[in-house]
Amino acid sequence: MSHDPQLARLGLFDARVPRYTSYPTAPHFGTEVGPGDFAGWIEAIPDHSEISLYLHVPFCRRLCWFCACRTQGTTTDEPVRAYVQTLKAELALLRSHLPRGISLSRLHWGGGTPTLLSADLIRDLAETVFSVAPLAADGEFSVEIDPNEIDDARLDALAAMGMNRASIGVQDFDPLIQKAIGRDQAYELTRDVAARIRDRGVASLNADILYGLPFQTSPRIADSVQKLLTLSPDRVALYGYAHVPWMSRRQQMIPSDAMPTPEERLSLFETARQLFLWDGYVEVGIDHFARPEDGMARALQAGTLRRNFQGYTDDPAPVLIGLGASSISRFPQGFAQNASGTAEHTKAIRAGQFSTHKGHVFQDEDLLRARIIEALMCDFRVSRSELLRQFDVSPNRIEALFQSAVAEFGDMLRLTEDGLRIPDRARPLTRMIARAFDAYDHSKAKHSSAV
Ligand SMILES: C[S@@+](CC[C@H](N)C(=O)[O-])C[C@H]1O[C@@H](n2cnc3c(N)ncnc32)[C@H](O)[C@@H]1O
Ligand code: SF4
Repeated sequence: MSHDPQLARLGLFDARVPRYTSYPTAPHFGTEVGPGDFAGWIEAIPDHSEISLYLHVPFCRRLCWFCACRTQGTTTDEPVRAYVQTLKAELALLRSHLPRGISLSRLHWGGGTPTLLSADLIRDLAETVFSVAPLAADGEFSVEIDPNEIDDARLDALAAMGMNRASIGVQDFDPLIQKAIGRDQAYELTRDVAARIRDRGVASLNADILYGLPFQTSPRIADSVQKLLTLSPDRVALYGYAHVPWMSRRQQMIPSDAMPTPEERLSLFETARQLFLWDGYVEVGIDHFARPEDGMARALQAGTLRRNFQGYTDDPAPVLIGLGASSISRFPQGFAQNASGTAEHTKAIRAGQFSTHKGHVFQDEDLLRARIIEALMCDFRVSRSELLRQFDVSPNRIEALFQSAVAEFGDMLRLTEDGLRIPDRARPLTRMIARAFDAYDHSKAKHSSAV
């Protein structure tokens, strides 16, 4: 991809543009959704449906400087054990509202670092989950694994409980970069953990790596990607490092003057991208690569790729329930978010109530705009006929929405016979283009360039 000054002018490098894992995005949730709505939405799930379940574990043994996730460090097991008790109580509460015959199309444990749970806690928690709802026949049980925070006993427990997709955090293999971002992790360690995961028959392996890190150069990212390719991950998330030291204080430890320029970020992404493509991976959306036989690549091909709070997904379930502090749930009616702090969350659960403190009830054009944004983020195009089929909307209204975005982005967004299309060279602008359909985003200068 050549460096296009137009990309910079249109705001390519604006770190404040949402990643659109939901629409509206979480900062626009209000207090209109509470525990009663959440319970009512659960009760309205049709009997015998498949749903998705997310469990959040907001603890880590180490606090990597680069990490923008909300997580708390702990050296002892006490808070972790107490938190698992809260999750189990929350699961019991869920069971009391859940209709009959529900099974899980996806179960995901994320964080933070879910693998800091001991082997016993892993078994205990997984058994409790499956006593509430079993995994569906072709369901996926995935877990985020920090290679530094796992051992054979915990891997055995995860495998025994049916984990069939493991997601390992890599970030970068270069020791200089690892030192600068506060995350030591030898290549040999990651390689061994990947092998031990596979030895246990876990079918799929995901890996997260980052571009745009301090001291990262094209040769360095090429080296890291090549090392990653030796592990043959089925799916890779190549996230752009979000340097937001004003929000994430730990990032203040990272030397800002070692950060790549916006143009260098684009080159870093492109270097990594080419290597994945040469190795036969399919490019999925703005930041994922998958083996052609992986479910995500197949969903892209079939036009069923979706976006949820974990990023891209091939999960077809219309309901995603998030348990644990700060987790977000999605229902056909709207979004519900739990209290962010573990103390506040635990207090509500102990009182026999969900901790829902925020959310959003879908209204007006929310679902139409959400679908346009999702389609752009997943497929880089939107189909006019699909929108007309799916929503009670006039062709004129759709045309007006399309035209206003095209007016904003010129030839970076094409009107076609089918609908709208983001040309290949404008793909780095996808989040910015998606924002043109965001009725809640009132940022004045949508094209503010950070270059
Ligand atoms: C919630 S973390 C869990 C991973 C696990 N605890 C580990 O460390 O391996 C999931 C992923 O978020 C990504 N992430 C964290 N901070 C980020 C940032 N500032 N910018 C972009 N991605 C970030 C990382 O790639 C990380 O692997
Ligand atoms: S990258 Fe993982 S281990 Fe490091 S602070 Fe973030 S969640 Fe914790």
